[in-house]
Amino acid sequence: MDEVQAPIIAVIGGLIRQTPGTISLGQGVVHYGPPQPALDAVQDALSDASTHEYQDGAGLPALVERLAAKLKAENGIDVSRGSRVVVTAGANMAFMHAVLAITAPGDEIILNVPFYFNHEMAVQMADCTVVRVATDARYQLRLDALRAAITDRTRAIVTVTPNNPSGAVFSEDAVRAVNALCRDRGIYHIADEVYEYFTYGAARHVSAGSLPEADGHTIAMYSLSKAYGFAGWRIGYMTYPEHLAEPIAKIQDTILVCPPVASQVAAIAALDAGRAYSEPHVRELAAIRDIVLSRLSALAPLASVPAADGAFYVLMKVETALDPMTIAERLIREHKVAVVPGTAFGMTDGCYFRVAYGALQKATVAEGIGRLVSGLRQILT
Ligand SMILES: Cc1ncc(COP(=O)(O)O)c(C=O)c1O
Repeated sequence: MDEVQAPIIAVIGGLIRQTPGTISLGQGVVHYGPPQPALDAVQDALSDASTHEYQDGAGLPALVERLAAKLKAENGIDVSRGSRVVVTAGANMAFMHAVLAITAPGDEIILNVPFYFNHEMAVQMADCTVVRVATDARYQLRLDALRAAITDRTRAIVTVTPNNPSGAVFSEDAVRAVNALCRDRGIYHIADEVYEYFTYGAARHVSAGSLPEADGHTIAMYSLSKAYGFAGWRIGYMTYPEHLAEPIAKIQDTILVCPPVASQVAAIAALDAGRAYSEPHVRELAAIRDIVLSRLSALAPLASVPAADGAFYVLMKVETALDPMTIAERLIREHKVAVVPGTAFGMTDGCYFRVAYGALQKATVAEGIGRLVSGLRQILT
């Protein structure tokens, strides 16, 4: 555990609490909550004794069925072709399950840099090694570098699209190429698709599991946290090849026994509301993203921000020799705005910050970005 980084959101959260009035562009959360029918369904379920008892390990059959239908209709994944679905307490748990299911200590997992910090942390906790592969200047995948990074110990390549922390959306060709590479080399493709609904402009999300011959080696995870404002209810789910059913059942039974029943009842109702629930929120975020990108681009040449077509993040590069954590602390203490240092995402070659805009309303984002821009100007010049 000594090698595992401290949970950065908690570290930044501590600094924010010490500086009241700070606007957080830190945590990756949305500003809206669950659909009302989800809350009503939980209210109704409270008087049902089964809500308070252990239920099926993989998830309530009604939820698993609902998820299978969603996966088929929206993701092009037909679980009857040889995959399974497991409901977890969030996509983070699904990722940990996947790593435990496919690795032995000392195995390698390839992460594209920038990575989602909890992915690195999970791999290290499983006593495995993270092999870091850099993306290009626009945070897009570099297939040749991924190919070159595969060794006899490699068990999987992880892709996150739309991406946390860069906001990049990978093209169908790129996802297809990684999926085929994994198949050809006999390793798994772990696809984190928790931001599947969050794309802007012409960008479209492509599910790795929908690609031809993907079923036997593709593990994909999803979440209700962002799409349905469900972060505190802890509901995620994962599709995985049938041959992993036994390890996944052992891991799920040991770590979670069964997903929280009340949360699953809420999830069924949320899925009934469906994607239409998040669409207006995603449109609203598209307008906020425009503000973020245009205000931050004014920082050139002090900082640069590749356009990001998805999720609710941008990863800005700042031209300075200063340490990003020092700058992040000064931004909070002196300018009352919080961002996350790029080092948490494996960006150690230069000074980067992730700016998250999902939790903000338009008025707050303008104020927060204003503070960030003037704060960086003061610190750096
Ligand atoms: C890429 C990615 N995967 C997984 C998660 C965690 O999702 P959950 O709340 O479902 O555990 C997040 C949350 O920020 C994320 O950014």
